[in-house]
Amino acid sequence: MALGDLPTGEEKRIRVREMFDRIAPRYDALNRVMSMGLDQRWRRHALEKIAVGPDDLVLDLACGTGDFCELAAKRGARVVGVDFALQMLRWAQTRGLDSTTVQADGEWLPFQTGSVDVVTCGFALRNFVSLNAVMQEIARVVRPGGRIALIDVDRPAWGPVRAAHSLYFDRIVPLVGGLISDRAAYRYLPQSTAYLPPPEELKTMLSAAGFLEVRREVLLLGSAQILTGVRGPLTPVVGQSKASVSE
Ligand SMILES: C[S@@+](CC[C@H](N)C(=O)[O-])C[C@H]1O[C@@H](n2cnc3c(N)ncnc32)[C@H](O)[C@@H]1O
Repeated sequence: MALGDLPTGEEKRIRVREMFDRIAPRYDALNRVMSMGLDQRWRRHALEKIAVGPDDLVLDLACGTGDFCELAAKRGARVVGVDFALQMLRWAQTRGLDSTTVQADGEWLPFQTGSVDVVTCGFALRNFVSLNAVMQEIARVVRPGGRIALIDVDRPAWGPVRAAHSLYFDRIVPLVGGLISDRAAYRYLPQSTAYLPPPEELKTMLSAAGFLEVRREVLLLGSAQILTGVRGPLTPVVGQSKASVSE
């Protein structure tokens, strides 16, 4: 699917933030209905895959209303949720989350290099203006040996499943979302999959950012995906002393 008249660059950043601020009040309820509860199952599965536990400081990037934060905290981790939409963070706070929330953009994370053990990110990759910049920023803040789990939607490859999925995702979701919440936002939701690079490119971007063991798991016949990886060692810069490392 082509980008068509979808926004790019700074226009995208502004429109995405305004959109999530607008839909924040009904976001959770609609998510559960539209994914039939699968979204939470996938988040739990992602945390299990990278073995999040009590020793971890988790940064949940684009945390929205805090689903991933809550599930990671339940596993004993300390959690910081980051999002640029203030209203999403306000809703996260109304849940009485056992985690801190910070308003920031994924391209400029207010965290020191190598300061977190894990980064999670749920259903936000296609919303970033520069996915490459975000992946590099994630690689900067995760310590060597730290893990990532990034979930996003996808489109099934096999014809009949793709057609059934498209009927639901491209027709029913915008209809229901428009009736209950915001028509423009829930029309954008399926269209925004056009921003997602193909699977191999996503994996290559993560490897180039400094992740090892990059894997992609396909969920529900291809309607969603989880990318995982382990932060590699910091690379010495050619021409600098061995004591000096950089990313
Ligand atoms: C589809 S919601 C996902 C929320 C949550 N992660 C979840 O699993 O339900 C996408 C979130 O990404 C956030 N977002 C998009 N672009 C962002 C950026 N550049 N920096 C920080 N947050 C961003 C939005 O504000 C929104 O809360």
